[in-house]
Amino acid sequence: MNQLTDQQIEAVMKALPQVKQDESMSLHTYLKIGGPARFFYLAKTLEDVIHAVSVSREAGIPFSVIGGGSNILVSDEGYEGLVIQVADTTYKIEGNHVRIAAGAFTALIARASVEAGLEGFEWGVGVPGTIGGAVYGNAGCFGGEIKDHIETVDALRLADAVFVTYSNVECRFGYRDSHFKHEPHIILSTTLNLKMGDKIKAKEKITEIMSKRKETQPQGAFTAGCLFKNASFQDEKELEKLKHEAEIPLDFLQNKRIPAGWLIDKLGLKGKTIGRAQVSPIHGNFLVNLGQAKAQDVIQLSSLIKMKIRDEYGILLEDEIQYVGF
Ligand code: EPU
Repeated sequence: MNQLTDQQIEAVMKALPQVKQDESMSLHTYLKIGGPARFFYLAKTLEDVIHAVSVSREAGIPFSVIGGGSNILVSDEGYEGLVIQVADTTYKIEGNHVRIAAGAFTALIARASVEAGLEGFEWGVGVPGTIGGAVYGNAGCFGGEIKDHIETVDALRLADAVFVTYSNVECRFGYRDSHFKHEPHIILSTTLNLKMGDKIKAKEKITEIMSKRKETQPQGAFTAGCLFKNASFQDEKELEKLKHEAEIPLDFLQNKRIPAGWLIDKLGLKGKTIGRAQVSPIHGNFLVNLGQAKAQDVIQLSSLIKMKIRDEYGILLEDEIQYVGF
């Protein structure tokens, strides 16, 4: 990435007095990995986000917008530009509608909606990071997907700097996919439509989800959640072929989706370590930083997994995590 000029640096510092310089991104990522951001700006309101984007555009410097940092890998070299962290955590519950700023933590919204007597979003307790990130990647776990509750999404379309309110259909959600992954936007807020429900039952469901999570996923580790998307198949024939090769369980075949974690496990890669990055011994699709891991360790381990899965099964795993500064 190009070095910023003195003029650009001055322009940013003047327009964003609270901006931090050379902030280590390892402080802002769940993986605790990443070199310094030349500038790092905590945008406490959505107006702050918009202001920071326009400052960056006017100064002609690159910017990268992050949410909670739960699903990103930042390069060891850092980011020669402005990292804007969306930190507007406000939300409002009106009847069965929850209006949420992009910086609110998904797990917290799940708990707040249950407290307000709403049901449907209990599974959100199992999702790390913020609502903005959850919308971007159509996050899901334990049977739920955020697309099932979204009414509208407000976003700034970067191509023409226009604010757009997208309906659910216009968001073109798919498995860990949305319109926002294909056309650059900044997600600002969303409104969820939930159902009035039984608070006691909803709380029980939260407890159940938390304990399932504890059983199957690494806890308290530095990790970015699932590294890869599960492999999806449109073509029955492709799956038929695999069925013979890999003793694939019937429910995977029926769902036309093979969990990346299962494939990684099958190849005996759990516990595999490169540098200080390790494939979790608990769940094959989680990669953990054992402490002081470099982004390069993660890249090498992830490449090794992809190569082995491709060679063994002919499946090309797709990344679920986002890369910053590469
Ligand atoms: N499995 C193994 N070995 C492993 C991991 C999984 O055999 O090491 C098997 C499990 O036994 C199960 C199947 O693979 O039969 C699926 O595993 P799991 O239920 O753990 O779900 P997953 O498909 O690996 C998905 C989401 C998770 C979400 C869980 C729980 C993706 C990529 N991952 O994982 O989401 O928490 O379901 O619902 O869709 C994330 O997206 O970051 C994430 C963590």
